Amino acid sequence: MTAPAHARTSADLIRAEEPVLAHNYHPLPVVVARAEGAWVEDVEGRRYLDMLAGYSALNFGHRHPALIQAAHDQLDRLTLTSRAFHNDRLAEFAERLAALAGLDMVLPMNTGAEAVESGIKVARKWAYDVKGVPDGQATIVVAADNFHGRTTTIVSFSTDESARAGFGPFTPGFRIVPYNDLAALEEAVDETTAAVLIEPIQGEAGVIIPDAGYLTGVRELTRRKGCLFIADEIQSGLGRTGRTLAVEHESVVPDVLLLGKALGGGIVPVSAVVARREVMGVLGPGEHGSTFGGNPLAAAVGTAVVELLETGEFQRRADELGVVLREGLDALRGHGVTGFRARGLWAGVDVDPALGSGREISERLMREGILVKDTHGSTIRLAPPLTVTADELRSALGTLEKVLGQAG
Ligand SMILES: Cc1ncc(COP(=O)(O)O)c(C=O)c1O
Repeated sequence: MTAPAHARTSADLIRAEEPVLAHNYHPLPVVVARAEGAWVEDVEGRRYLDMLAGYSALNFGHRHPALIQAAHDQLDRLTLTSRAFHNDRLAEFAERLAALAGLDMVLPMNTGAEAVESGIKVARKWAYDVKGVPDGQATIVVAADNFHGRTTTIVSFSTDESARAGFGPFTPGFRIVPYNDLAALEEAVDETTAAVLIEPIQGEAGVIIPDAGYLTGVRELTRRKGCLFIADEIQSGLGRTGRTLAVEHESVVPDVLLLGKALGGGIVPVSAVVARREVMGVLGPGEHGSTFGGNPLAAAVGTAVVELLETGEFQRRADELGVVLREGLDALRGHGVTGFRARGLWAGVDVDPALGSGREISERLMREGILVKDTHGSTIRLAPPLTVTADELRSALGTLEKVLGQAG
């Protein structure tokens, strides 16, 4: 008989996954059993500083007390209604989230990919109903090296072959231009264009930050050409870069904002499309939906997340600690780090390939009690919870220095 999970070692549990779990991930060999704040603990009681924070789903750390309290309170009252009925938590969530984003209306969904899919549907419908694009001809312009999720439509406009190969046929209606290239965008957008969909900072691509003026340029261009600007802030948003939204670094407000990850407080999947009234107004009853979208538990946790962000504390922390992060990484240039890109508490760090792949460096860091994730080749991504302290951050950077010193 199989031993109960809590009695098994990390090695047992990793082995037990192999025959029964789809092999669509290649996790680091650490089995997390408990967590609090910026720290996680494995089955054997070893502690690790979480420098990935669930790809920014844990911006407020593991089990933030205010979020756990909100979830507990809601669990004791009401968890699910479906949108067949109203629930008493949804109005406040939508009101406060729209206000936080500087937009008007909210379409609540669950995962990031669903928010992206929903944003695409809203933009296409807007193109037909409002802009007057002939039926079936709407296009959406996206950037190369994007990451917007894993559904069939979303991988249709991915430029990552491993995300696409074997999953066709693909959804038509997308044009791909280089990221950070306004001239290419100018050429690609025409009278059929419903929207330009981009990440204000490309996360999965390695924390790629566009030149200053790019987001302002996208805003100006989309307004002038009469199409929507959809900003996918699923990873960049909600405090990560030192602002509530990454577009705020250029004081830009998109027509449609996609949020997810941290919106669920690390507790439940919560995503949302947030948009101007004229845009979201194209959706009528029966045209889109989700059984779980906007459920009272999600709305309660989401409202508590918005409440934390309304204080400005987390944005301020990300901004201030971002200086510590950049200084630490600067000191490692030429000592194993060949380059990095950072904004707020978010960095893509290119490690000298001679010292090992991103994966190998991540495994060495894991053995030293630091959890990170590699992206492409020799790039590792740092995105600690925004609750991390300056000392913890410095200690993690010290460990990175040590690991890079030993590597090769
Ligand atoms: C920018 C961006 N959009 C969308 C997604 C997809 O989110 P999910 O994994 O919740 O579907 C991600 C996930 O990493 C992302 O980084």
